[in-house]
Amino acid sequence: MPDTPKDDLCHVTILGTGSYLPEKVLTNADLEKMVETSDDWITSRTGIKERRIAAPGEATSDLGTKAALKAMEEADIGAEEIDLIICATISPDTFFPSTACYIQKNLGAKNAVCFDISAACAGFLYALQVARHFLNTGNRKTALIIGAEKLSVMVNWEDRNTCVLFGDGAGAAIVQSREKSDRKIIASVMGSDGNQTAILSVPGGGSACPITPANANEKLNTISMQGREVFKHAVNAMRDASMQALERAGLTAADVAMVIPHQANARIIEAITDRLGIPAERTFVNLHKYGNTSAAAVAIALDEANKSGAIKPGDIVLLVAFGAGLTWASTIIRW
Ligand code: COA
Repeated sequence: MPDTPKDDLCHVTILGTGSYLPEKVLTNADLEKMVETSDDWITSRTGIKERRIAAPGEATSDLGTKAALKAMEEADIGAEEIDLIICATISPDTFFPSTACYIQKNLGAKNAVCFDISAACAGFLYALQVARHFLNTGNRKTALIIGAEKLSVMVNWEDRNTCVLFGDGAGAAIVQSREKSDRKIIASVMGSDGNQTAILSVPGGGSACPITPANANEKLNTISMQGREVFKHAVNAMRDASMQALERAGLTAADVAMVIPHQANARIIEAITDRLGIPAERTFVNLHKYGNTSAAAVAIALDEANKSGAIKPGDIVLLVAFGAGLTWASTIIRW
């Protein structure tokens, strides 16, 4: 559904960003000792050199809370000012309550309405868009959106096809409505395709296939992926979503100061930016440090781009993501 600047009743602006990465680093050399793989294979096929792994006692909400506190600090927003918390995650603390509710408790954000979004790697941009609509209607004023994942608990560490790709982490942003703001969301695109659920999923553990000792042995509660199919869909969906958002904003790729894409695979990112005509120096990449952190990836990258000065006030920033579902989304922000 089109979501043009004309839809906005107010300006929706990102006031602050934050991220948190667990301390433990798992390098490609470490993985060489766990499965039949090599640093050379992982680096050349994905660009990933290392990823972070959360501690056993560290839940997704703990990662999300730490990222949120940093975003609140930059935005200079207190916990009680937040009236909406949306956490995008596919690795929630529990089936219910939502991870957003655990984060609310950790922060003492007692005035917030809280819920999770399940849109896999597109989750943070889905959350941003849902928050934008809440703020736009005047229903809420200050939103905390979070992408947080502890994917290490749903990875089959004996499957070299998948275990080299994923990592843990969290990113967050404080989003607020303003009557007028130079820094604002300009345009967004969202899409889904439920015909492709089989190419990337965790098949077991839900109501369709409750986990039993037998299917746990077969690792049905871990990530299952048809890598080449996912690659193809990811490139097409992110290219199209980027072009549609630019069109809705009345901009072209030449106007984009920085594209911050989902951080899954350096070759996917290259394929998209080549097709868009955006050079490497205007593309933000940090996947070599963290691997694919699903819903957290764009949020962490946005925070690093913000804090490092890679994006500056007035820059046109294109965020674009793709994930299981299939789901995809893009957002254009004037920073
Ligand atoms: N180390 C060494 N060899 C590996 C390996 C690993 N970690 N993982 C797979 N291989 C092998 C395969 O077994 C296969 O061997 P074979 O030819 O003897 O059967 C060979 O490498 C090539 O596998 P293939 O799947 O064709 O490689 P690829 O070039 O497509 O790269 C991915 C695999 C997973 C890196 C790539 O498909 C990809 O990134 N897909 C998208 C994944 C993704 O982004 N998922 C999340 C989206 S949100």
